[in-house]
Amino acid sequence: MDPPPVPPPHVIIFPLAAQGHVNSMLKLAELLAISGLRITFINSEHIHHRLLRHAHIQAHFAAFPDFRFKIISDGFPIDHPRSPDHFMTTFNYVKSITKQLFEELVSAPDRPVTCIIADGILTFTIDFAGDLGVPVIAFRTISASSFWACFCIPRMIESGDLPLKGDEDMDRDVTSVPGMEDILRCRDLPSFCRVADLSDQLLQYVTTQTLQTTAARALILNTFDQLEGPAISQIRTQFPNLYTIGPLHSHLRSRLSSSSPSPSSASNSLWKVDRSCIAWLDKQPPKSVIYVSFGSITTLNRHDFTEFWYGLVNSGRRFLWVVRPDSLAEGSSGAVPEELKEAAAERGCIVGWAPQEEVLHHGAVAAFLTHSGWNSTLESVVAGKPMVCWPFFADQQVNSRLVSHAWKVGLDMKDVCDREVVERMVNEVMGERQEEFAAAAGDLARRARNAASEGGSSWDNLDRLIEDIRSMKP
Ligand code: UDX
Repeated sequence: MDPPPVPPPHVIIFPLAAQGHVNSMLKLAELLAISGLRITFINSEHIHHRLLRHAHIQAHFAAFPDFRFKIISDGFPIDHPRSPDHFMTTFNYVKSITKQLFEELVSAPDRPVTCIIADGILTFTIDFAGDLGVPVIAFRTISASSFWACFCIPRMIESGDLPLKGDEDMDRDVTSVPGMEDILRCRDLPSFCRVADLSDQLLQYVTTQTLQTTAARALILNTFDQLEGPAISQIRTQFPNLYTIGPLHSHLRSRLSSSSPSPSSASNSLWKVDRSCIAWLDKQPPKSVIYVSFGSITTLNRHDFTEFWYGLVNSGRRFLWVVRPDSLAEGSSGAVPEELKEAAAERGCIVGWAPQEEVLHHGAVAAFLTHSGWNSTLESVVAGKPMVCWPFFADQQVNSRLVSHAWKVGLDMKDVCDREVVERMVNEVMGERQEEFAAAAGDLARRARNAASEGGSSWDNLDRLIEDIRSMKP
């Protein structure tokens, strides 16, 4: 009699409950599922509900019989409004239930667990899983460069680069982040570093979480070697088991086109996608539109919102702008000036949520005005679109510097919200410097697609990751 077939390795994937994190970890989950791994994806009830409604993920993942969702609470009722202010409450709640959650998953006799791929900021998973004898691989959803900058916070403190000395200090070069000496000024450091007091809770938290990642079995990053070489080589000195497998969305597209059963990747969208903007784009001349979006959590105050409106309208360019229903900070509501509305009706299109990847690949779109979230940055890189960056917080300050200074595919408007600056930068990227930026962005896009195609560095690294998981014993 033949021996019973060996079940595939079973990987638990555990993201932080936020769009940017779930988006990329779901793509990783799908990549692993395509390769025949058994997946359990831990999702918060709130996010899962929205993904079911707007991204139809149930039907999408039904194509993978070994793919399951494990739904958990994030500590709030399902319809409670979420904001970044809830982060610590959710974090602490999830931490409080994780030990029991892992015990339950690990003890299921029909699905022995091979390893856990946990969001790199949920480092408490490493100890809980370790107690059960299950290895954890950390996945950071931010850029390698910002991860490395966070990793170097203790060095920056030791060398005197931190704390920052105030506004007059912001253009000073940072010398204590190895590999990035030619790139980072104080103003380009992750936003957590902008504190006068080194005992600041968030700074402490980010530093601790980042250093604790070294306790994981390995580290996965959504980037590729040619994009962030200097930071990646430095990270390798601390994390010998490093898998750079991005850009994940491009990688997923390459693997889907060479496999079955899934015909296309899921949208992973938490909002209702308004496709009317594609019909609008179809009617615009080639390379005539600037696409504007500030991601899924950024909010603007009334002053910046108005200033930005004027800058965009005064540029005279056509624009497609995503204004989420919750884009304005609380208490900032008020009428948009009539003259702006008229201009918007003439040459603009405003939607609550766009199919961003599709928009960025549209021939009418010439450039992207972005908050420099890492997913948006990678999506723009793959689509070959120059960027105007207006970073808000976290890793975005680093990413926007990469765009303007390392890759030279756009401009960084960091720390300024002035209608004249917005107008000037939009016109530079859409006008006088369009060819220069478009050529550099086209070159970067080719490298990105090569990295994530068969034989490319990210493709090979994912194969290596899968082999390494297969060699682990459940
Ligand atoms: C957050 C942080 O802001 C970011 O800095 C960090 O790197 C990840 O976590 P978010 O603000 O949502 O993420 O930005 P980003 O990482 O760019 O992700 C936004 C995602 O939403 C992108 O995948 C983008 O395609 C998608 N999106 C955005 C849409 O699909 N439609 C839209 O209209 C706007």
